[in-house]
Amino acid sequence: MFKVIFRCVLFLTLLNNITSQKTCAETFCGKLRKSPEGFPSYSLDLSTALVKNDTLMGNLSSEDGTRILYLEVACSVSYTQVAIADKQLAQQIGVVNSIIPHSSSVPLALKKTTYDNETIILTLGNTKAVVYASPFKIEVHYKDTLVATINGKGRLVIQNSAAALDVTFPGAQHAYGIPLHAENFALRTTTNGDMDPYRLYNHNSGQYKLKSTEALQSSVPLLYTHGKTQSSGIFWTGFSQSWVDITHGNNQIDTYIMNEMAFITTAIFNGPTIANAVEQSSKARGVPFIMPKYSTLGYHQSRNSYATQNEVLNVINQFNAANLPLESVWLDINHTDNGKYFTWDPVRFSNPMGLLNQLAADNRSLVITIGPHIKREKGYFVHEEASSKRYYIRNIDGTDYIGKSLPGDCSYIDFFNPNVTEFYVSLFSLGIFKANNLLVFLDLNEPTVFDNELHENTLPSNLLYMYGEGNFLPHSYLHNRYSDNQIVATFLGFDINSQGQVRPFIATHSHSVMDINFSPIITGDNYASWEHLQFSFPMCLSEALVNMNMCGANVGGFAGIPDEELYQRWYQAGAWLPFYRAHFASDVPPREPYVYSDKVKNRVRNALYQRYAHLPVWYTLVWEVTKTFRPIIRPLLYHYPKEEATFTIDNELLLGADILAAPILKRGALMVSVYLPGGESEIWYNIDDNYKALRGIGYQLLYVNLDSVPVFYRGGSIVARKNMPRLTSAATVSDPYTLYICLNTTNGASGTLYVDDYETMNYFWKTEYLYMGFSFTDNSLYAYKIHENADYEGAAPVGEILVLNPPRNVVNARLEIGHKIRDNFATISYSNEGHVLKLSNLSLNLREPFRLTLLPSV
Ligand SMILES: *[C@@H]1O[C@H](CO)[C@@H](O)[C@H](O)[C@H]1NC(C)=O
Ligand SMILES: *[C@@H]1O[C@H](CO)[C@@H](O)[C@H](O)[C@H]1NC(C)=O
Ligand SMILES: *[C@@H]1O[C@H](CO)[C@@H](O)[C@H](O)[C@H]1NC(C)=O
Ligand SMILES: *[C@@H]1O[C@H](CO)[C@@H](O)[C@H](O)[C@H]1NC(C)=O
Ligand SMILES: *[C@@H]1O[C@H](CO)[C@@H](O)[C@H](O)[C@H]1NC(C)=O
Ligand SMILES: *[C@@H]1O[C@H](CO)[C@@H](O)[C@H](O)[C@H]1NC(C)=O
Ligand SMILES: *[C@@H]1O[C@H](CO)[C@@H](O)[C@H](O)[C@H]1NC(C)=O
Ligand SMILES: *[C@@H]1O[C@H](CO)[C@@H](O)[C@H](O)[C@H]1NC(C)=O
Repeated sequence: MFKVIFRCVLFLTLLNNITSQKTCAETFCGKLRKSPEGFPSYSLDLSTALVKNDTLMGNLSSEDGTRILYLEVACSVSYTQVAIADKQLAQQIGVVNSIIPHSSSVPLALKKTTYDNETIILTLGNTKAVVYASPFKIEVHYKDTLVATINGKGRLVIQNSAAALDVTFPGAQHAYGIPLHAENFALRTTTNGDMDPYRLYNHNSGQYKLKSTEALQSSVPLLYTHGKTQSSGIFWTGFSQSWVDITHGNNQIDTYIMNEMAFITTAIFNGPTIANAVEQSSKARGVPFIMPKYSTLGYHQSRNSYATQNEVLNVINQFNAANLPLESVWLDINHTDNGKYFTWDPVRFSNPMGLLNQLAADNRSLVITIGPHIKREKGYFVHEEASSKRYYIRNIDGTDYIGKSLPGDCSYIDFFNPNVTEFYVSLFSLGIFKANNLLVFLDLNEPTVFDNELHENTLPSNLLYMYGEGNFLPHSYLHNRYSDNQIVATFLGFDINSQGQVRPFIATHSHSVMDINFSPIITGDNYASWEHLQFSFPMCLSEALVNMNMCGANVGGFAGIPDEELYQRWYQAGAWLPFYRAHFASDVPPREPYVYSDKVKNRVRNALYQRYAHLPVWYTLVWEVTKTFRPIIRPLLYHYPKEEATFTIDNELLLGADILAAPILKRGALMVSVYLPGGESEIWYNIDDNYKALRGIGYQLLYVNLDSVPVFYRGGSIVARKNMPRLTSAATVSDPYTLYICLNTTNGASGTLYVDDYETMNYFWKTEYLYMGFSFTDNSLYAYKIHENADYEGAAPVGEILVLNPPRNVVNARLEIGHKIRDNFATISYSNEGHVLKLSNLSLNLREPFRLTLLPSV
């Protein structure tokens, strides 16, 4: 009975939440998609072409000569940029001389420019752009392989308020990226049948459809193509609404990119591997450069909404009592005084500082929601200042735009006004933010406008930003960047400029290309269904491929009620996505793990502990993003790009290069088929089954039960873990490490470990960190500093070492530090019929290089 009533309520909520999405035909996309029908074709007017600052500039003119466009082409070591614009618009949005930005610090010289009366060829390093005058097209080459053809189909359109470009990628079988869509990892052909193109338009779609090209709350205009021999990528200035058509051809991918402004700039990345293309695009765009707090990687609990400070304390006490790890409790707008952000409800949260201090003693944090919509209430300090200084987005008649949001009538902060940053930053100097465990979640920042179906529940496109002195820009040009600008302004609200300062934690609902210190992002208001659990993997893999890393789905689903099996499976799977948070709606019964039976609780606890055991791995990979541009989680094809079966696998993922996670995402599984890549010479150790060694020879059947979480360590890797069960990430800090040395077919292995104080900026300003390399060859483990000049005192020692597939009859472990040699250094034991060797009772300091040699009896 109870359940039936809930279902009805839910069904109603569900209906209310679905917003009507515009179709391609209902927007500028409809007309452009028919091109070249109804549009002129262009040729380059060679008499206008010149090369300045290594950029080719020239005019494109339409066949009838009535329309002149402005073209720039620039080659770089690993990519080629092409910009085509209505020049007036380019000038209006602040482009001075050249559309393509030049950093004068990198003086690149074109190796060669050749002209004739049909083509202009730019060459730089191995990158070559061949510009054909008539009909106009550009071929981008890398080492004499054709990477992409731009306007090969002559579908270039630049109109007063829209632009479109066709780009073909030869040698490609699949396309990936352009998050966020509730779609499989490998994107589909959108051009046969009645499908719409993939849409990029940040808006809050409530309970979204699965397997859909519809836009969600975030947009990254970066697409990759991949085939057995060749991969590439394309990034474009898709900060307005974009639509992307994809066509799988005969060993090629055709794309058609449509943008809602008279301006398009793109960068085509050379590849030739997918890992190269990811690195090139990440370098060009910038990746997060500040480490997150360690607690970001732990487990977080949210619901809509914990309503009082006692409820928050109760949640934490219940987690403690049930021995369940937890980092933070999240509050939505309900914590504020009547919907006024930066204030607290005087009754329900009467002593927020006291609450934060209590949580701090337990190493726990509080996350509060902050929206970009400001309640229009007389006397509310944020509104008073924003309205008197004209910091709100405006209507075309110059008045403040007013829209409905959670607090009622609101106006929206104009994060494009350069003066707004200082104002917004000042809000974070409120005393309460001195508490290092007060974290923020930027919610509804697409931005969402309630009851505004006509504009898909976001801002109308004709609103104005105050871009500079007397300089207005239509909101539509920059719609998808709105949340990015809020992220930056918020980040600046937290001081990271001196040592000892604690790193910020800024989660965000919406994003485009901006990520500064691994902002947690979620896949949206999902539903408690197996399908939603399944789609969380491809959605986060798509984000990962564009280096938006800290992605997760609401564990257990936001709406709906998961049954126990789904609930447990979701905790097991969620532990292998970067951001691990549960969040559920206000109209469903409580579902924190402690409300369940012991059986369920035990499985959830095991999943949480498995996550915590691997925190050193996650943290090291986060660090490596900032150095190597390699995403934290990766699709299988990232490391096995020639193995065709991996191209469409999105229910498994690689954590770094060394851990393959294939958690169970299906109901009633008794047996699962797991794909293990790499061929006969690749070993995968099943950590779920006594480190049983399997070969990378494709699909293999495993018997499973409700406790099973198929996870494999790659032979050739060294994995650093902390195995002591703890209730917070902070509590693990001084626990000793266990190194898992997973030998490959030639009895070697290697790995890395990054350690700092997990919390402050000292790693950045004082190089207080350790970045360790481990390598195992000839029965000897060598540990060394990769960054020799960095040092950190507080790293825990290595307490234990496990060797998988070890040498036999080892009786002595010899330790060498500098010239000092010590024999019989460890307690040695074998288990699993000799397949696992354990060295225990160690205390190896990571600050000094050491060598540990295993000596067999003679
Ligand atoms: C390109 O066309 C514009 C007119 O749209 C003209 O003013 C300009 O001089 C042309 N550029 C060159 C280099 O001829
Ligand atoms: C070329 O570069 C110089 C120095 O960076 C700059 O002053 C100049 O405006 C640039 N010219 C063009 C056409 O972009
Ligand atoms: C340039 O054009 C002329 C006349 O159309 C032609 O004879 C000549 O071969 C062309 N030169 C090149 C290098 O294509
Ligand atoms: C906030 O919490 C109070 C107390 O539980 C509740 O009455 C109110 O409806 C909540 N408001 C929102 C917006 O969730
Ligand atoms: C909190 O973290 C510190 C290390 O930062 C640890 O020593 C302490 O035991 C932790 N306390 C609790 C209650 O987890
Ligand atoms: C920014 O502030 C300055 C100084 O108060 C003012 O002169 C200027 O008009 C402001 N600019 C905008 C875009 O509001
Ligand atoms: C095994 O690992 C070692 C150390 O990383 C490496 O040098 C060797 O090439 C690997 N062997 C194989 C077959 O991959
Ligand atoms: C552990 O090591 C210490 C010194 O390194 C030694 O005295 C002790 O006996 C060892 N304990 C065991 C259980 O091997």
